Amino acid sequence: MTVNLEIKEKRSLLEQFKEIRNQTLELVKNLEKDDFVVQTAVFMSPPKWHIGHVSWIYEAIMSKLDKNYKFYSKEFSEYLNSYYQQFGIPHDKGLRGITSRPTVDQIFQYFNIINQKVEKFIESQILNEDQKKLIVMGFHHECQHQELLVYDLQHLLAEQYKPVRKNKIVNQTKKHKKKFVRD
Ligand SMILES: [Fe+2]
Repeated sequence: MTVNLEIKEKRSLLEQFKEIRNQTLELVKNLEKDDFVVQTAVFMSPPKWHIGHVSWIYEAIMSKLDKNYKFYSKEFSEYLNSYYQQFGIPHDKGLRGITSRPTVDQIFQYFNIINQKVEKFIESQILNEDQKKLIVMGFHHECQHQELLVYDLQHLLAEQYKPVRKNKIVNQTKKHKKKFVRD
């Protein structure tokens, strides 16, 4: 492969990666911090877990491509692993919402650290076709989780929140004017 083609392919991988990561953040940008921790059913996962898991999977991939790769944290790996026994015993899915650690802030910090790690990894490694495919598989995996996240958000928000509506008729003579009511 020529040097120019290699540079072009790496640039394309980096662009795809950044776009997918931004899409993930876009999906959760309107949530309150408290929303990230709640698990409203055993079959869904809290947003915090999704954000962490789609980051952790790149660690799993990098560890496959580089035998010297060191995972960020044993605790994070345990909580964010879904069902890959080769990376240790995964946390119980139905209990993802009962733990307050790692915190939401720590998970977002982790998300950003993994962004840097993956970008550096793509830039610095000489990757063959199979290795590139594995990285692209990570992109597809994150896209799948974006769908799952949307499903889970619907369950989370539909169960928890009712929309705030404006009163159609406001009685101006009342001392305590109610601007908004809840159903
Ligand atoms: Fe997954």
